[in-house]
Amino acid sequence: MRLIKAKDFEDMSRIAANIIAAQIVLKPDCVLGLATGSSPVGIYKNLVEKYEKGNISFAEVTSVNLDEYKGLDHDNDQSYYYFMNQHLFSKVDIDPANTHVPDGLREDVEEACKEYDEIIAATGGVDIQLLGIGRNGHIGFNEPSDHFELGTHCVKLTEDTINANKRFFAKEEDVPRYAFSMGIGNIMRAKKVLLIASGEDKAWAVKNMIEGTVNTQVQGSVLQLHQDVVVVADEAARSMLEA
Ligand code: GLP
Repeated sequence: MRLIKAKDFEDMSRIAANIIAAQIVLKPDCVLGLATGSSPVGIYKNLVEKYEKGNISFAEVTSVNLDEYKGLDHDNDQSYYYFMNQHLFSKVDIDPANTHVPDGLREDVEEACKEYDEIIAATGGVDIQLLGIGRNGHIGFNEPSDHFELGTHCVKLTEDTINANKRFFAKEEDVPRYAFSMGIGNIMRAKKVLLIASGEDKAWAVKNMIEGTVNTQVQGSVLQLHQDVVVVADEAARSMLEA
């Protein structure tokens, strides 16, 4: 794991956006694994700026998103589909047909998960997977558990995650209780992983992900076993690290 020490949220966003832009320049038809949440918002802003300046094009890019709330449709402003359109897809030249977000409305969960795994496989593999991290160390929506899920699955969100994400919803009851998420196997198959973390409330997760033992209660710790991981963390998120 390589740790890049960013100063603050802005610095983290600039550095991570440069890494993704470099990937697009090196391989214009690359496959981007994308993430949602508040952490990547600054990255998408930077990428849109680079696109507007003519420095990068998404014309040949394919994207696969990590996760989606179960039960939210595309028009719901809290769905991750809506988020991706709002922050990136509608602002760059990516072909909507080449963007993929799990469909939160699917009733046949097993079939939906199997199909999403097939979509990921059909892309030929993710070149760079962007990840945020939950306060409890989750990546995607792979919550603390007694095992690592390999493929896309439907997960019951923990109270901690519901609490952390309720700030985006009018009331806590509105936060969906289930979500579709890529599994740890999907994430570990990405050629490169770029994890970003900002703020003091991520310090525990960052410490345990980097310096803890690999364990299923802190799902992000599995990244210690991946051969090409870059963590970009700001000062506050690094505050509990020993080194
Ligand atoms: C959600 C998402 C994760 C994200 C995490 C942190 O639960 N499923 O992909 O990394 O929250 O979100 P934030 O960046 O808003 O702190």
